[in-house]
Amino acid sequence: MRKGEDLLNGLECLAIRLFKINDLSQVLMVEKESFHPGQQYDESVFMRYLDMKHVFLVADLCGKIIGYVLGFVEDSSIAHLASIAVSPSYRGLGIGRQLLEEFEKKATALGAKRIVLEVSTSNTVALNMYVKKGYRIVRRIPKYYGDEDAYLMIKDFKS
Ligand SMILES: CC(C)(COP(=O)(O)OP(=O)(O)OC[C@H]1O[C@@H](n2cnc3c(N)ncnc32)[C@H](O)[C@@H]1OP(=O)(O)O)[C@@H](O)C(=O)NCCC(=O)NCCS
Repeated sequence: MRKGEDLLNGLECLAIRLFKINDLSQVLMVEKESFHPGQQYDESVFMRYLDMKHVFLVADLCGKIIGYVLGFVEDSSIAHLASIAVSPSYRGLGIGRQLLEEFEKKATALGAKRIVLEVSTSNTVALNMYVKKGYRIVRRIPKYYGDEDAYLMIKDFKS
């Protein structure tokens, strides 16, 4: 049995669902495992998004939160994907892609015609995922993540 199959034994209980406040401590753990200390969102940042027209989804594997995606829709019908992460042990199994696809469905249902995001130019995995899902690089943003540059990427949706 491959690693992924083993881990996802019980994949039938994987649900991409709306965030609930009780999920926050587990989301913070995924955050800690996924980003360098200077780039991690703390509790207050997550809470701030809840005051916006947000899309906050979690990957729930039998009650264990193993990933999340977070963003918001601006009045101009542009959605901003602020963050997406999957717990390291569960990467490469299609969960990031499922989170992204569900984010797109929810954001467009809220009126988004375009999704924008920033990604570190060195984050090959995330870049591959976005390109594969139809996002295109529109420009490079110098020093967006401290010393690191980011790409601004967008995907347009037909109305
Ligand atoms: C980016 C991230 C969310 C992807 O989640 P994931 O569950 O591992 O991704 P998936 O298994 O759904 O793969 C989706 C696509 O990503 C790319 N990808 C995944 N793993 C990869 C790897 N090891 N090398 C290169 N590309 C890879 C592929 O294009 C893949 O599509 P494919 O399987 O059809 O080839 C995850 O790696 C992560 O949490 N990284 C740390 C946090 C982060 O960088 N977030 C993005 C901030 S912009």
